[in-house]
Amino acid sequence: MPTWHGDIHTIIRAHCTECHAENGPGPFKLETYEEVRARAGFIKAVVQEGIMPPWLPGPAGLSIQGHRGLSQAEIELIKAWVSNGSPLGKPGAVLDEIVETTSRTADLQLKMLAPWPVPAEGGGTWGRVVRDKRTFVVPVNNNQSLRIQGYAYETNSPTVVHAVTFLADTTGSGRYLDARENGPGYYMAGDVRDTPSGDIGGVGVGARELVLPDGFHWEIPKESDLLMQVQYRPSGKIEFLHDRLHAWTTRLNESRPLRTLLSMIWRVDVPAGETAHLQDSWTLPVAVDLVGFTPRANGIVSSMNLNATLPDGDTQVLLDVPRYDPHWGQTWLLDNPRHLPAGTRLTGSWVVSNTESNPRNPFMPLDRYVAARRTGVLGILMHVAAVNPDEDASLLLWRQEMLQSRQRPQ
Ligand code: HEC
Repeated sequence: MPTWHGDIHTIIRAHCTECHAENGPGPFKLETYEEVRARAGFIKAVVQEGIMPPWLPGPAGLSIQGHRGLSQAEIELIKAWVSNGSPLGKPGAVLDEIVETTSRTADLQLKMLAPWPVPAEGGGTWGRVVRDKRTFVVPVNNNQSLRIQGYAYETNSPTVVHAVTFLADTTGSGRYLDARENGPGYYMAGDVRDTPSGDIGGVGVGARELVLPDGFHWEIPKESDLLMQVQYRPSGKIEFLHDRLHAWTTRLNESRPLRTLLSMIWRVDVPAGETAHLQDSWTLPVAVDLVGFTPRANGIVSSMNLNATLPDGDTQVLLDVPRYDPHWGQTWLLDNPRHLPAGTRLTGSWVVSNTESNPRNPFMPLDRYVAARRTGVLGILMHVAAVNPDEDASLLLWRQEMLQSRQRPQ
């Protein structure tokens, strides 16, 4: 029979305490036997339902870094332990805590210019359209272009800050929007023209650091502002966001810039009570290495996936999110970058559930859902680098043309 000292402590420590600890994003601690036993019934339920630990990508897609799911065997152990009255068991050998160290030193420290108070309560409109997101402008003041290989996000309000996505703005449009509203930031998505927020990735709950594999970087053109789109969840009391980003550059000469290709639906119209299955397809003009994805949709989307049809006719699931929830959004980096040859056809699919049975539908009471956005109301951002650096420029041109063609009547 499983016991706390036998198996359960190890499972909880490996899968739960990264968030359910002091100063973590979880609403309570799950560190001691007493803390876990006090919620045993609830833990059994959320683990069985696959609600905890939160992790959106399903097993059908490519393998992703930092996967947090429990194995079926671990779920069975937790269930049996709870059903047997959560026995303590006998302590065995004490395992050393794994201390992770990082030798990276950030060479760029960015901080919100002024604190912004997150409202204590969301109110009636919270969670609808963009009211659970606010975008902040952080000047980088860089007199030359930067090649960022990784960054770590730091917040004093870990339970409030959910998904955060970034973009480097050279147009000044972030500053313009910021100046029109009181206080730092503005209540709009952090997109700029055809560039979606998340163009340089994003961080999520329990995943505040993003480190690209060697040989890839995000580009921050000179004199950029960093636009941070913060999705937040009110905690019941006012909390002040004064968040920071620590970033480090790559020193490798042979490093390629990541570009964002968008699989997306730019206009959506779904009657009240209906479920729509939407698809988008296009063909890659040059060979790329796919490094990761960032999902983009609100809770009216209940699932999404991205498939590739290779030039030889083989099909592969790249990303499968069977149960989407925007609160667990983040950039997912692949365990191994995936080569996609020129001529690969990419098909994104989304299920839009404008129904009452969709537990995350933010638009209640039900109404016709109509929305349009140049960068996609729903989408999957693919972070790719041209295999041949000489083809980077033509990839960018093709992308520009593709996005513009979406907005012409078809
Ligand atoms: C990545 C961070 C993270 C990890 C890992 C995680 N949790 Fe949570 N957990 C949360 C957050 C945040 C909430 C608050 C609920 C929400 O925001 O939806 C939560 C809520 C819960 C709840 C309350 C559920 C509810 O509906 O209110 C339970 C029980 C729970 N977690 C158990 C666990 C267990 C057991 C594990 C490990 C198997 C685990 N969690 C792993 C972040 C995490």
